[in-house]
Amino acid sequence: MWSLRSWRRAAGTRLSRGRGGQIPAEVGAPAFWPASAGGGIRILAVAIVAVLCATAIAAQESAPSYYRDVWPVIQMRCQGCHQPAQLGGELNLTSFDGLAAGGMSGPAFVAGKPDESRMLQMLRGEIEPAMPMRAEPLAEAEIAAISDWIAAGAADDTPEEMRLGVATGPIVYHQPPVITAVAYSADGEWLAVSGNREVLLHRRSKIGSGDSLVARFSSVSERIQGLAFLRNGRLIATGGTPARFGEIQIWDVEDRKLRVSNMLCHDTLFGLAVSPDERRLAIGCADHTVRIHQATSGRELLRMNHHENWVLGVVFGGDGRRIVSVGRDRAAKLIDASSGAFIENVNLLRGELAAIVRNPRIEAVVIGGEDRVPYYYRMDRTRKMLIADDSTLVREFERQDGEIFALAVDPRGDRLAVGGAAATVPIYDLETGERTATASGHAAGIYTMAFDPTGAELATAGFDGRLRLYRAGDGELLQEFVPVPLEGELRGETTAGGAP
Ligand code: HEC
Repeated sequence: MWSLRSWRRAAGTRLSRGRGGQIPAEVGAPAFWPASAGGGIRILAVAIVAVLCATAIAAQESAPSYYRDVWPVIQMRCQGCHQPAQLGGELNLTSFDGLAAGGMSGPAFVAGKPDESRMLQMLRGEIEPAMPMRAEPLAEAEIAAISDWIAAGAADDTPEEMRLGVATGPIVYHQPPVITAVAYSADGEWLAVSGNREVLLHRRSKIGSGDSLVARFSSVSERIQGLAFLRNGRLIATGGTPARFGEIQIWDVEDRKLRVSNMLCHDTLFGLAVSPDERRLAIGCADHTVRIHQATSGRELLRMNHHENWVLGVVFGGDGRRIVSVGRDRAAKLIDASSGAFIENVNLLRGELAAIVRNPRIEAVVIGGEDRVPYYYRMDRTRKMLIADDSTLVREFERQDGEIFALAVDPRGDRLAVGGAAATVPIYDLETGERTATASGHAAGIYTMAFDPTGAELATAGFDGRLRLYRAGDGELLQEFVPVPLEGELRGETTAGGAP
C-alpha cells in the first residue's frame, strides 16, 4: 500500500524511544500522507483546511485545550530554544511534562492563575526577557488562548498516541531507520547521517571498525532531510515534523552543541543548499516557498513564492547570485537570490521534480524526478526564449528503472550519480553522458547520496537503512553498515527502562 515515495516522506516511522517504554514501535507520521502522493495531497490539503476551520470553530465553543490551542504555538515558537540540546532558562518545552516541571526560576505556570504565571508574564513582556526571546511577540489571540487554558486549570489533554515529545533518552532502534540525508565534511573526516529525530556523526576513517559513531545530535524534528558541513565547523541540519513545523539546526561539530534552532513553515523543509561563500542557506518548503537564511544565525533573509507546490530541491549558482529550485509543480525555476525575483523556468515541464544538482564548474544543473530521466540544463539561454523552448537542454541521460529521488555530482564536476526508486545507482560521465559504473547492493529505494571531497567515494542510503560507500570509479562496494546502534547491539549500555 505504501509506495516508496510516501515512505520517503514518511521516513522516521520505525521509531521508538529509550525511556518510558510506552511509546509504540510504529508511530503516527504516515497518517498525514496518503499512499498516492499526487492528487491525494491536494485532497489532503483541502481536508486539512477543513479540519483547521472546524477546529477554529470548535475552539470558540468548547473548553480550552492544551493539545489544540497551546501545544502548536509552543512547538512553532518556543521549542527551538527550549529543548534538551538547548535549554533556555533550564526549561524544556518539548512536552507537557517539561512545561509542568518549570525552569530555573520555578514553575512556568500556576494552574487557575494566569496573571501569576511566569510564562504569561513573559509572553506579555511584563517580566524580562520577553518571550519568545528576540522575536515577534505571540499574537493576541495566542496569548489569550494560553491564558484561558491556564485559567481553566491547565490540564494536559494530549492524546496518548501523540505523546512523542522529544527523546528524553537515547533513541532505540529495532530496525535500521529510513535514511534521508547524508553529508561529508570538507576535509573528509566526518560523515553525518540522518536517523530518527537525530543526526549521527561518524568518523570516516573508523567506518568498518565498529566504533565510527562518535556523536548523536538529537533534535525535536522527526525527520532530517538536509545536511551540510560548513568550513567554519558548523553542521547544518534541516527537516521538521510533518504538518507541524520545519526546523533549521546549526550544530557545532567540535563541541557537539546546538547553536541555533529556528522553526519555520508549518511542514518539513527539503532541499538544503549552501551558497558558495557559505554565508547563506537556501531551503525548499512544503508551503511552496523557497527561503534564504543566514548560515550563522539561521535568520531569514528572503522568502520567495514562485512555485505552485512543494519545493523539494534548491541549488545556488557559482557566484551565489542566483538559485534554481525544483518541486512538485514540475518546474525548475531560476531566481535572483538577492532580490528574490523570478527570472525564468529553466526546463520544459514534464513530471514532478524531486532533485537537483549543479555542475560545480559551470552554470548548469541536472534535474530529475517522476519521469525517470535526468535532464542536464544550462542556466543561461543563448537566445531569446520561445514557446515550448528547450534550447537550454544540454542532454538527457538514460531513463532510469524508477523515479529519481536523489542526484549527486562530485566536487570536480566529472561524475553524476542518480538514485531513486531503483535499487542500483548508475554513475555517468557528466560531460559525455556515458555510464561509467553502477553501484549496486541496496535492497530498495535510494533517497540521499553524496560524493566525498575527493570525488573518489560515493555514499548512498535510503529505504533499507544501510549506508553504502562505493568507489566512484568502478562502483565497487567499499563499506556497508547500519549507521545507528540497533537494539541488541546496545547490551552493556544503559537503555533506561528499555523499549517495549
Ligand atoms: C530565541 C530563544 C528563545 C525562544 C524562541 C523562546 N525562549 Fe524562553 N527563554 C530563552 C532563554 C535564553 C531563557 C532564559 C532567560 C534568562 O532568564 O535569562 C528563557 C526563559 C524562559 C522562561 C523562564 C524559565 C525560568 O524558569 O527561568 C519561560 C517561562 C520561557 N522562556 C517561555 C518561553 C515561551 C513560552 C516561548 C515561546 C512563546 C519561549 N520561551 C521562546 C530563550 C528563548
